[in-house]
Order: sequence, then C-alpha cells, then structure tokens
Amino acid sequence: MIRALRWDGDRDGYPVLVEQTLLPDRFEEVDIKTPQEMVAAIQRLAVRGAPAIGIAAAYGICVATRGLEDADAIDAALDHALPLIRESRPTAINLHHMVDRMRGVIDAHTDLRGVALRERLLEEARAIHREDEELCDAMGRAGAPLIRDGMSVLTHCNAGALATGGSGTALAVMYAAAAKGVQFQVYADETRPLLQGARLTAWELQQEGIPVTILGDNAAATMFAHGEIDLVITGSDRVAANGDAANKIGTYGVAVLAQHHDVPFYIAAPSTTFDFSTPTGQEIPIEERAAEEVWGVSWKSAPPAGISVRNPAFDVTPKELIHGWITENGIVQPPFDELR
Ligand code: MRU
Repeated sequence: MIRALRWDGDRDGYPVLVEQTLLPDRFEEVDIKTPQEMVAAIQRLAVRGAPAIGIAAAYGICVATRGLEDADAIDAALDHALPLIRESRPTAINLHHMVDRMRGVIDAHTDLRGVALRERLLEEARAIHREDEELCDAMGRAGAPLIRDGMSVLTHCNAGALATGGSGTALAVMYAAAAKGVQFQVYADETRPLLQGARLTAWELQQEGIPVTILGDNAAATMFAHGEIDLVITGSDRVAANGDAANKIGTYGVAVLAQHHDVPFYIAAPSTTFDFSTPTGQEIPIEERAAEEVWGVSWKSAPPAGISVRNPAFDVTPKELIHGWITENGIVQPPFDELR
C-alpha cells in the first residue's frame, strides 16, 4: 500500500513526502531538508490529512537540526522550528498534538542535549509514525463489520493511506472489510475545490482494487434520494469533546443528507484526532484558503473582476448527525471515556 511519507536515513537524514498536489497525473516524491520546506509542503497540501500532517510535523522538527552538533545551535533551531510548524495549518489537531508531544520530549529530557537530543527526537517521531500505522489498523478492525456484502459506501475527501501514516481512517475500514472478502463499492465525492476525493481517494482505491465511482459533490443528494447509498464513513480533522467533528468542507452537508434519508453516518478518527480541550465544534478554528483554489480548478477563466470568493476548507458536523465514532478502541460515543 502507498505510504504518504517516510524518514530517509539516520539522524542526518530527512523526510520524503509523496507530492500529493500532482496526483493522479504524476507520482513524485519530494525531499524536505528544512522546517520551512515542511511548512510549505503542509500548506500547499503536498502532505495532508490530519494524522499525516501530525507525523510530518514531528519529522519537520527533526530536520530542523539536520547536520547540527553544537547543543546551543540545536536548541535555537528547535525553538525556531516548533512554533513555525505548529502554526502551519489551524484545524487538524494532530498537528498541534504531535508538536506538543515533541516539545514534551525536549522538556522531559533537560539532561539530554546536542546530538543525543536529536537522536531522541527522531526516535519519538518514528514512534509517532509507527503508532499511527497501528491506530489505522485498529480502526479498520473496529469499523469493518459495518460494511456488508452489496453495500454502497460514500466517503468525502481523502481519509486513506495518503492522509495517515498507515492505511487510513475511513478507508482503513474499507480496506479491512475488503480483506475479509466483503464485496462492496465506494462512492467518492469529488471534494471541491481541490478534488481530494476525485484525485486521491479514487486513485488510492483503484490501486487497491476496490470498486470506486466518483460523484460530483452536488450529486450526493440525488444518490441518497434514489437509495443508492447505504452507509457514509468520513475522517475528521478534529473531534471536539462533545463529539462535533470538523472535516473537509462539504462533510456537514453529506451528514444532513444522510440523516434525512435515514442512512448511518460514521466518523473514523484515532484518539490523536480528539481534542478534549475544545468543548464543541463552535470553537474549532476553520482554515480559510486562497480564493484562487475555488475558481482555479475547473473554470475556464477567472470570475468577473471585483467578485469576492470565500473558501473555508472545513466544516463542522454536529454530533447529533453522527451515528458513531470509529476509533482504535472500537465504535464509541460521547463522552468518549474509552479515549480519555
Ligand atoms: O485539507 P486536507 O486535504 O488536509 O483535508 C483532509 C481531510 O479533511 C480529511 O478527511 C481528514 O484529515 C481526515 S484524514 C484521515
């Protein structure tokens, strides 16, 4: 299965990312040699998806000290890199959690300085990556029984291997069901404006031999109305303490449709995506991205001069619309005692 990112080499190595902006036309990898390059890669969505950017952040912190041996220089490089990377995108909480985890290692090891600290941080980043892979597999096992023979499963955006350190969140559930021999098909919303569904989810599922059909985002309602969707599973960028879940813009609309048509809607997310310090979805900061993304994808020209464009990248699905939260500890409900 495709891997979104990896660390190449030892402590003087660097992260290598799949350049997701080019998929599916071209498969290219990009070497990241500085924290600034990692920030740029996160911001242009070369690496994307909540768990994947958490891992990328940890590796970005490691690469900040690449080639340095002097303890003071290493401390200064880390002090510069941590806030830079932490603020690179606002919505996915994994990014903040993983930067804070790396900071925790630094703070807990005041005896460890210089190259020894660099070694320890790389060990932690690798552990973050390895653990995420295990979380994906566990979510797959927990959610797989939801998918039965003959079902059509709708997903939105990309919550697969390209978005994590392992097999995905929502797509991990699908991979686990397919591995058990369940026959089903997937509908992938195209996910405007950047087409993560049409470009990435469709590509990923095709690679894995799972039947997938792309839907224009505005086609979902009629598909529900005609009884063509049996189940919805999406990922999340941040689940608030009450269960409200931020995910790619358009997810909320899908959840409303699912409820109207009595189709179960599930969020698949590891505990690393839960944010118990944010009480409800109202407090989740929503990234607003460049206007050009909205008119740049499929329009033949720019909008009329003077027209304003809004481009919120995420929306919040209220907990009332979510049947269950598929996690590494099973399918759970608020207040999520299993995860705290
Ligand atoms: O802007 P993106 O592509 O990073 O948005 C990603 C999503 O919304 C995913 O659905 C979410 O991160 C869950 S990924 C396992």
